[in-house]
Amino acid sequence: MAANSSSVLARARYAQQQQQLSTSGRATEDARQRRRHHRHHRERIGNAKRRMTTKVCSSTTKTDDDDDDLSAEVRGDFPILDSTNDAGMRIVYLDSAATSQKPKEVLEAHADFYSQSNANVHRGVHHLSARATELYEQSRAKVAAFIHAKTDREIVFTRNASEALNLIANTWGEKNVEEGDEIVLSVAEHHSNIVPWQLLAERKGAVLKFIGLDENECLNMDELERTVNERTKLVSLPHVSNVLGFTSDVERIVKTAKSVNATVVLDACQSVPHMPVDVQALGADFIVASGHKMCGPTGIGFLWGKYDVLSEMPPWMGGGEMIQDVYLEKSTYAPPPGRFEAGTPAIAEAVALGAACDYLSKIGMDRVHEFELELGAYLYSELVDNIPNIRIYGPNPLKTNPKTGKNFERASLAAFNVDGVNCSDICTLLDQLHGVGCRSGHHCTQPLHRHLDVLGSARASLYIYNTKQDVDAFIAALKEVLQFFAEPI
Ligand code: ALA
Repeated sequence: MAANSSSVLARARYAQQQQQLSTSGRATEDARQRRRHHRHHRERIGNAKRRMTTKVCSSTTKTDDDDDDLSAEVRGDFPILDSTNDAGMRIVYLDSAATSQKPKEVLEAHADFYSQSNANVHRGVHHLSARATELYEQSRAKVAAFIHAKTDREIVFTRNASEALNLIANTWGEKNVEEGDEIVLSVAEHHSNIVPWQLLAERKGAVLKFIGLDENECLNMDELERTVNERTKLVSLPHVSNVLGFTSDVERIVKTAKSVNATVVLDACQSVPHMPVDVQALGADFIVASGHKMCGPTGIGFLWGKYDVLSEMPPWMGGGEMIQDVYLEKSTYAPPPGRFEAGTPAIAEAVALGAACDYLSKIGMDRVHEFELELGAYLYSELVDNIPNIRIYGPNPLKTNPKTGKNFERASLAAFNVDGVNCSDICTLLDQLHGVGCRSGHHCTQPLHRHLDVLGSARASLYIYNTKQDVDAFIAALKEVLQFFAEPI
């Protein structure tokens, strides 16, 4: 029964992915062909699954390497990593770029808030309200310290990074962007760093400009310099790409933008969880990040902005908390960050995000970064060495970057395609036959995938709790999946 419901779910997910990918005639034809193939494969999948349930996952029998000590140290903190799928296979979680798993400390902080401290914040004089307010504001201070903000008044809690970007567009953008002004983005943006600017540009008659990629599939910085001009009001780019894995040259971005007094936004969703981030050293005006990608819960993210920039911005959403005085005719507004936090916030989630900052700080972000650089390079080289006809997108971490003289820094993720095999088929079988959870599709970057001339990609993304054995299990599973597709039907 369990296996049946699992495959029904997997098929439903598969169908949904196909629908998402069917955005062009080519996609529709692809989908038709895949459905034909899928009918033939289904029976073989059933047989293979029965074989796999009797097999012990090889990754559980290996011992850790010496250089794997961070994951060995922290793995036990993440209860979900002990779980198995419906077929009894240990789950190998390789989708942390979509959302990370949560350590016990974070789960407990969330639960403890409701069992010991629950009340609304900034509203009551009673004991619990004071305690809740203190915890909520302590978390703001923890986030501020985590990214080296000058003051906790520079941290605005939002639901997620998307909301933070919409907030900038609807407040700073509403006030500062005018007809004919230019907003510079790249083809590698997450949809959240495109759509709010499209909406703003439509409202204001502003113009969006997009820079492309260089020969290593990093941001084309020469093109950025050619594109930015006196009409540029805003430059909004990824700090680390969620598909290509590159780390942007922020110094050059800021220098280029500031040469024309443009404001700089960094989408830091894939950097804040994985490397030390010092907003004062970066020199951008705003960064945005999500809590759930950095060991925190969903429903909480943040905007960091320079205080003097935030304090000049008008409010976006109106309601309780964001006001100073309300009259029937008009209102005055609280200073930041309260001005941008209308209504009862996600209190328990904010408190748990503070616990996530504590957790990562205790490990040390330098250590996290070093560990991930090594594990990411291992993932990359194992893919290159073992999988024929693979195309991994983004810079090669085994190659020297001529601009720095060092190897390309690359996030510990690999988005790829293998010639002749659909990426969703690969991920469906990795999951169903091997318990390996990767993401497939466009990863909220449709323009990037169009630019790369593919409909989607498969992506394995790692975090502190992943081991080289996870990578080995993934590679072994991927080989079997590709073998499965190579066999005649
Ligand atoms: N933006 C997230 C990802 O890359 C959801 O998967």
